[in-house]
Amino acid sequence: MNYTVKRGIFYLSFGSAFLSLRRNILTKKIMQESLLIPKIEKTSEKNFPLFGELANLEHEQIVFCSRPEAGLRAIIAIHDTTLGPALGGTRMWNYKSEAEAVKDVLRLSRGMTYKAAISGLNLGGGKAVIIGDPQKDKNEHLFRAFGRFVDGLAGRYITAEDVGMTEKEMEWIFAETKYVTGIPKSLGGSGNPSPVTAYGVYMGIKAAAKQAYGSDSLAGKRVSIQGAGSVASHLARHLKSENAEIYLSDIFPEKADRLAAETGAIVVSPDDLYALNVNIFSPCALGSVVNDDTINHLNCDIIAGGANNILDEENRHGELLRQKGILYAPDYVINAGGIINIASEMEGYNEQHALEKTSRIYDTTLEIFRFADEHGITTNEASNRLAKRRIAGVGNLSNIYSSKSHFSKRMGEMYLRDRA
Ligand SMILES: NC(=O)c1ccc[n+]([C@@H]2O[C@H](COP(=O)([O-])OP(=O)(O)OC[C@H]3O[C@@H](n4cnc5c(N)ncnc54)[C@H](O)[C@@H]3O)[C@@H](O)[C@H]2O)c1
Repeated sequence: MNYTVKRGIFYLSFGSAFLSLRRNILTKKIMQESLLIPKIEKTSEKNFPLFGELANLEHEQIVFCSRPEAGLRAIIAIHDTTLGPALGGTRMWNYKSEAEAVKDVLRLSRGMTYKAAISGLNLGGGKAVIIGDPQKDKNEHLFRAFGRFVDGLAGRYITAEDVGMTEKEMEWIFAETKYVTGIPKSLGGSGNPSPVTAYGVYMGIKAAAKQAYGSDSLAGKRVSIQGAGSVASHLARHLKSENAEIYLSDIFPEKADRLAAETGAIVVSPDDLYALNVNIFSPCALGSVVNDDTINHLNCDIIAGGANNILDEENRHGELLRQKGILYAPDYVINAGGIINIASEMEGYNEQHALEKTSRIYDTTLEIFRFADEHGITTNEASNRLAKRRIAGVGNLSNIYSSKSHFSKRMGEMYLRDRA
């Protein structure tokens, strides 16, 4: 088996029957090699857990990017491209180990597949991580090298801004590849997606209120928001416009104070937030905040926030919330405004269109609640199933012959002639 091998890229492409390994080393001589592995042995999982992770989470392709002289160590994970090119941001983080970075990129890219699918987008799921300290390790060479690796994937992966990245680094990446979204408005892009993300979270909160209380009005409802950052700030403004009673916390008290002064919210210490007696708890800071330490302190009817991966262990904590009678609005469903916004940029950005599409989060969230009730399952399981159902349904469309599938040259010419 022959492969065209590109400089500095190490590919692992995972298929159902075989695994192909493409590797290039930094010498002038191009080496080609492939490895056929008929099945994943339990023993290999023990020795090299990455293979087990790949099989469990069903990824298509993992790309390791190396440029030692620039300090670049990046991993691009393409989870699923059934619905379209894999879209997902690049995160720069000071991971404690390479294994931690791999785990993170695998988990995040899978989430992007479901997020795109449930949001009705024709996109697959992917994500990239750059291992390094965002405060110290940034340089032009590193990000432009990363941009070239993204470009080498020829559109199978489209990147965007994520944690640890700023517009400056996105511009460096954009200098090397067109496969970037969420670029600054000054460069013809859609700019910061946070206002649209927050609008979607607000729609998700309203849908959850409708489900729990029979009305989506938030007037007089007690809502606690964790974090006073970009998403939280825009969300607090929406909540204020409905006269909700807002409680806020941030590890930087001055941020919480500033937002409270603007919105009339009450500031609470980060530790006291979990046990606060509220209608709605909205985590808008970090992931994994519903965990073994916090879950028994929660004193709310609804959890609906903008943070990614709110449940520390998706299945177990989702089930515990269900048993406690707390309605959970799945995070990737209600925080999808950001991806909807940057996806709109790929078709020529239209803010009104992006907001209109984001407002559909309300109906999608209600549909998930209905599906969960009907099947007696958690809301997170319901949204995963609905996302997978769309991927399977749309993925199978190629079974239907259409005029796009030219099966011969002559027919292709006829098709073109008929359209002329
Ligand atoms: N920005 C987007 O468009 C977008 C889209 C989808 C998901 N998200 C997710 O939403 C969350 C918030 O994103 P953002 O863009 O507003 O980030 P941000 O950095 O602007 O805000 C996060 C805030 O949380 C605070 N914080 C951190 N730990 C905290 C704690 N333990 N208690 C209270 N506050 C704490 C930080 O000080 C910061 O002010 C993140 O999890 C992000 O991944 C954001």
